[in-house]
Amino acid sequence: MSSVQPCGVSDDDRRPPINDLLEIAQRGLALKPKRLPSWLFYDERGSALFDAICEQPEYYLTRCEIALMDVHAASIADTLGSDVRLVEYGSGNARKTHMLLEHLHAPVAYVPVEISPEPLRQSVERLAEAFPQLPLQPLCADFSKPLRLPIPPRAPRRTVVYFPGSTIGNFENRGAAALLRKMRNEMGDAGGILIGVDLKKDPAVIEAAYNDRAGVTAEFTLNMLARLNREIGSNFELSAFAHRAHYNPMAGRIETHIVSRREQQVKVGRVNVAFRADEVIQVEYSCKYSLEDFAALAARAGLAVLRVWTDPEQMFSVQYLVRASTVTR
Ligand code: AVJ
Repeated sequence: MSSVQPCGVSDDDRRPPINDLLEIAQRGLALKPKRLPSWLFYDERGSALFDAICEQPEYYLTRCEIALMDVHAASIADTLGSDVRLVEYGSGNARKTHMLLEHLHAPVAYVPVEISPEPLRQSVERLAEAFPQLPLQPLCADFSKPLRLPIPPRAPRRTVVYFPGSTIGNFENRGAAALLRKMRNEMGDAGGILIGVDLKKDPAVIEAAYNDRAGVTAEFTLNMLARLNREIGSNFELSAFAHRAHYNPMAGRIETHIVSRREQQVKVGRVNVAFRADEVIQVEYSCKYSLEDFAALAARAGLAVLRVWTDPEQMFSVQYLVRASTVTR
């Protein structure tokens, strides 16, 4: 059963207990090649560092998505129609959400779904001030798992899942299709998905976005090790590891690695993890799509692309997906 906490946040109790962190780390570091999940980036410091990444001149994604929303938010709101229940996966996107909510016609409720309670609380606080009339129904849960959405205050015309920021790019094809299919179930027959998708472009531009000159991304990447040291008592020596992000043109994705600068041993719980010099831990994929690539991915999930908006330079897109059966018939 989900419980309702005093602050009005529904708490989905299927989140993994924090003790699993040690097991997750040990299991990932036993793989060949070594691999740790990218959601591990986002502790408090990691979330602050990600915000700082978004301010870097090389990181075009946020800037372009905001520029796009600036021009197209009204048209997007018209496409979604009136009496929408907006369910956002993740709640770290205050600015874009703001721009959308400002234009939505008589929204029924805003439901941010976020695994970390503190960012969730903050986003609700901000939005409550800006939109005093809008019912807010925060849900503290892992959006990659099936959700029990709170009962809306009145019947929505449609439920729209909002997934900005190209977070979908963190999933490999199969996982991305599975996540889209899950959203498709949650939004129902009349629903839709409004999703931010980063587009393929000059690899040098993409690579620069993940290797900013100020080194913020490098710090963000290595913070994962600092987090593990703090939370599970591992002894990664941060100066003995490096950030490496390169674009794989065949796969169409940035592949981010943590590279061991030398041969070394690290204690992770009771396990000793050995690293060769230059051995990597694979920590993130950031997939880039052509419009055709993404339409094909959507189709795999039983979805059709109804509309695409892009910024003037076609760097980034926001796409509106509906159930495939609703457009072919
Ligand atoms: C939040 C997943 C969209 O992949 O571009 C930014 C995370 N990683 N710089 C991305 C990230 C390194 C970001 N997403």
